[in-house]
Formats: sequence, structure tokens, C-alpha cells
Amino acid sequence: MNKLDRRLCAAPMMDYTDRHCRFFLRLLSPSALLYTEMITAPAIVRGNAERLLAFDPAEHPVALQLGGSDPRELAIAARRGEECGYDEINLNCGCPSDRVQSGRFGACLMAEPQLVADCVTAMREAVKVPVTVKCRIGIDPMPPNCVDEYEFLTGFVSKVAATGCDVFVIHARRAVLKGLSPKENREIPPLRYDVARRLRADFPHLTFVLNGGLRSAEVVRDQLEFFDGVMIGREAYQNPYLLALLHQSLVDPDWLLPSREQIIERYVPYVRERLAEGHRLRTMVRHVQGLYAGLPNVRSWRRFLSEQAAQPAANADLLMEALRIVRAA
Ligand SMILES: Cc1cc2nc3c(=O)[nH]c(=O)nc-3n(C[C@H](O)[C@H](O)[C@H](O)COP(=O)(O)O)c2cc1C
Repeated sequence: MNKLDRRLCAAPMMDYTDRHCRFFLRLLSPSALLYTEMITAPAIVRGNAERLLAFDPAEHPVALQLGGSDPRELAIAARRGEECGYDEINLNCGCPSDRVQSGRFGACLMAEPQLVADCVTAMREAVKVPVTVKCRIGIDPMPPNCVDEYEFLTGFVSKVAATGCDVFVIHARRAVLKGLSPKENREIPPLRYDVARRLRADFPHLTFVLNGGLRSAEVVRDQLEFFDGVMIGREAYQNPYLLALLHQSLVDPDWLLPSREQIIERYVPYVRERLAEGHRLRTMVRHVQGLYAGLPNVRSWRRFLSEQAAQPAANADLLMEALRIVRAA
């Protein structure tokens, strides 16, 4: 089953794309597919799944990204996600952090395509929503029995696709499994859109979403000629208004572009409701810091928000006050 509109996706980002962030991003694009941060299957199976999986109905379409490598646990976690209403379950095969590798999941799973296939099979048997995979174009070092990097990639995709999984998000860089921090792993290995494109051409029956380094409407428009969708990570967080511009130019030209002020005005009632439930103001305000990125008043906006959100008496009115400050600036 593959009926979600994947043209525009917001990437899973640990410690960033929490439910508040996703609600905010939804105000910037009515239909972008929003991904949760990676949540590990053991955390869902053994932890407080209700709290970990909670989200606002306005976030739809929203995909739950899971981390794990135990098919049984992943199946249980996927089912919990589906029961909570997630529209897709995605398996993380792209994160290279040491912590993730020590749990034997993330990018190091690319070296074990049969295990990934077993995980995906178990997840697909547990849910009706699409089960998708996010991976890199390769890993470094490659497993000892592999010589050709592209063959390694096609071997991985073929094996996983044979389970019936037909959607792959490709972060178009190799993951270096030793010696680079996760941050360096998002910057140092070169971007190879050409490799992702070759993959796209070699598997015409599969859906490919391109990820990595997409930062402008022009580049996104160019790449959408080749791919079924794009996934935007850092730029969607640091400059979220790009999502609104992309939504209008790529998805719905008739959509009335909301102003930044309107977006904040729509976020405020959400913030009030969550504050009443006991969520902390700072955890919600931090996500709007990038809204004025690239504009002359961005500094006053950021400074006011970060200083004021820390005040014990601060509440959602702070956001309206911040709007007054940027208007004056
Ligand atoms: C702070 C941060 C946290 C991330 N956490 C995850 C994660 O939980 N799962 C995942 O698959 N990728 C994660 N990523 C990688 C992004 O999803 C994306 O693949 C990467 O940033 C490249 O896209 P970009 O250049 O558009 O940012 C994270 C990236 C950042 C910057």
C-alpha cells in the first residue's frame, strides 16, 4: 500500500522533530509527510509507549520512525504505532551514531540485508499502513565480502524490496561507521545524487524519496524531476518557511501562502492547550526560532524568544509579544 503523497517530506531528527515541532511544521505545509524522531522499538515495547507515541491529529500525515533490529520487537512497536494512528512506519537504516550501532541498528543494518528483510517482513505482517526504509547509499567500511559499492546498494534494495517494501528514502551519502561523529557523517561523506538517480532508474517500480543537502526550492524542483519526493531535514528546521514556499510552488499553487505572523497566531492556541496539559513552554517555543531565518529581524526574534521563554512566568502570549518585537524591528 503506497498512497501517501511523498513529494514533500520533513526528515526524522532526534531531539528536534518531536510532536510540537511537527505541529508547527504542519502549519507551514498542509500535506508534507512529517516523520517522528527515531523511537527505538525496545522503548515502545518496554517503556511508556503512550507518551512516546502521542501526537496531535493535525499532524497527519505523519510517519513513525523506528529504530531496532529485532523483528519481533519491531513488529510489536509497529503495531502500537498503527494503533496510535500513524500513517506509515519507517525503519531507520541510516543513522551511524555509535550508540545506535551498539544496539545493532541504524546504518550498520545495511550490512545485514537479510536481517532488514526479516524486520520489514515482520513489521509488514503486523500492520496495514506502509512500511518503508530510510537508508544511505552505502556504508564504510563495506562488509568484507563486498567489492562493488553500487552492487552492495542494489543488493540491499533488492533484498528489502522482495519483502514487498516499495518505498525507500535515500540519504544520498555513505555512512562512515567509524571515526566520524553523527554530525560529521551528515557533512563529510560527499552527496551523490547521481548514485540515487541510478538507483531510481534501475528500480523503476519502487518509490524513491531523495534526502540530503536539499536547501533551496530550485534544487528541490530539479531533483523532483527524477524522484518521487524529497525529504528535507536541517533546512526544514533552520528555515521552516521554506516548507511553505515549497508547498505552494510544488504541491498546490492555489494554496494561499500564510504569512509568518499567521503561522505564529495559529501555533499559539496549540501552545496554550499543551501548557494546560503540563508541557513546558521552552520545548514548544524553540521550534519557531528559525521562522524569520534570512530576514533582517531574525536576531531580535531569536533573542527575545530565547531570553523570555526561560522566564518562570512566561506563557503563550510570549509568541504574540515576539511578533510585536519583530514588527517594530
Ligand atoms: C539533529 C539531527 C537528528 C537526526 N536524527 C535522525 C533520526 O532520528 N533518524 C534518521 O533517520 N535520521 C536522522 N537524522 C538525519 C536526517 O533525517 C537527514 O537524513 C539528514 O540530516 C540529511 O538531510 P538534510 O541534509 O536535509 O538535513 C538526523 C539529523 C539531524 C541534523
